[in-house]
Amino acid sequence: MTQNALGVEFSQRLTDNPKSAEERAAILANPGFGDYFTDHTAVVDWTADTEGKGGWHDARIEPYGPIAMDPAAAVLHYGQEIFEGLKAYRHADGSVWTFRAEANAHRFNRSAQRLALPELPPEVFIESLRQLVSVDKDWVPSGDGEALYLRPFMIATEAFLGVRPSREVSYRVIASPAGNYFGGELKPVSIWLSEHFARAGRGGTGEAKCGGNYAASLAAQLEAEAHGCKQVLFLDPFNDNAVEELGGMNVFFVFTDGRIVTPALNGNILHGVTRDSVLQLASDRGHKVEERKITIDEWHESLEDGSLSEVFACGTAAVITPIGELKTANGSFVSPPLGADSVAMAIREQLLGIQTGTVEDLHGWLTRLA
Ligand code: COI
Repeated sequence: MTQNALGVEFSQRLTDNPKSAEERAAILANPGFGDYFTDHTAVVDWTADTEGKGGWHDARIEPYGPIAMDPAAAVLHYGQEIFEGLKAYRHADGSVWTFRAEANAHRFNRSAQRLALPELPPEVFIESLRQLVSVDKDWVPSGDGEALYLRPFMIATEAFLGVRPSREVSYRVIASPAGNYFGGELKPVSIWLSEHFARAGRGGTGEAKCGGNYAASLAAQLEAEAHGCKQVLFLDPFNDNAVEELGGMNVFFVFTDGRIVTPALNGNILHGVTRDSVLQLASDRGHKVEERKITIDEWHESLEDGSLSEVFACGTAAVITPIGELKTANGSFVSPPLGADSVAMAIREQLLGIQTGTVEDLHGWLTRLA
């Protein structure tokens, strides 16, 4: 039993069959994104409070492996599920740190409220990351732009087919060494404008990080892939075709006069932690930042009149990835070529520098995990 200062106790059952150092080195040499998983997982279960019992219990580290679940478990039928994404970064002295984990813990609880799941105390969220990374520390890569992607998630495990919030829930964390989300070297990506599908609607779950939002993006993602694109852009057709977000990341626009614009949070858009960090760093660098409505027409017109210089996607997985082109059924919006003075790339370098300990963490964003 490992007890921390907060009194959350995690028991540890370590695997008898960890990957060998050679197997792990082969994976870390080319981790890709989301293909490989570490040797362990963190778990905390929850039971609804009946007769004074219940709540979060049985915090543990156990070997990574399949989850035994009743076929009637609510998550399998009604998708009562939420997740998070954050990363653990190796610093030059070998220590391992995570970035703005409190923000992810807070967003996790907002998602939990929307999906009628129990809130997890933020200190348990952070302790679960610390426990998992401590046992799987050797899996944290150190290459340029690489990190250990941490995926906390919560699923409804009660076996019951009526439609109501589950009275049994499991919180888990898995970890996966990660390089560039889009594979290979970083380069501008092409994205596809989805005109037939919406990702979210008013009053829906758009700003929650729940699996259903990502499932709803997949038909459009297939359309994108058929057009040679890596991601989909969703609009709000009921709001002048305002730009919302990509299938799995937020979007930013850089204007030649130094303004940086991103769609305002409106209930449909994910409260991206990277989005928020970009706004802060851009403002620190003297940019005027605007969170507001930006329509597809404004995007087109500002490319035509030369006032738009860069468009980029951002998220924990994508970090900051320039968008080279938006393909639509009626033609393409091609971004100007990326110059050596790229604002997106400068902010990307600063962000990665803070995360990996080579740039001073002026905002107190880092938490040591191991
Ligand atoms: C992230 O950036 O962490 C995401 O969740 C995006 C995607 C991989 C689902």
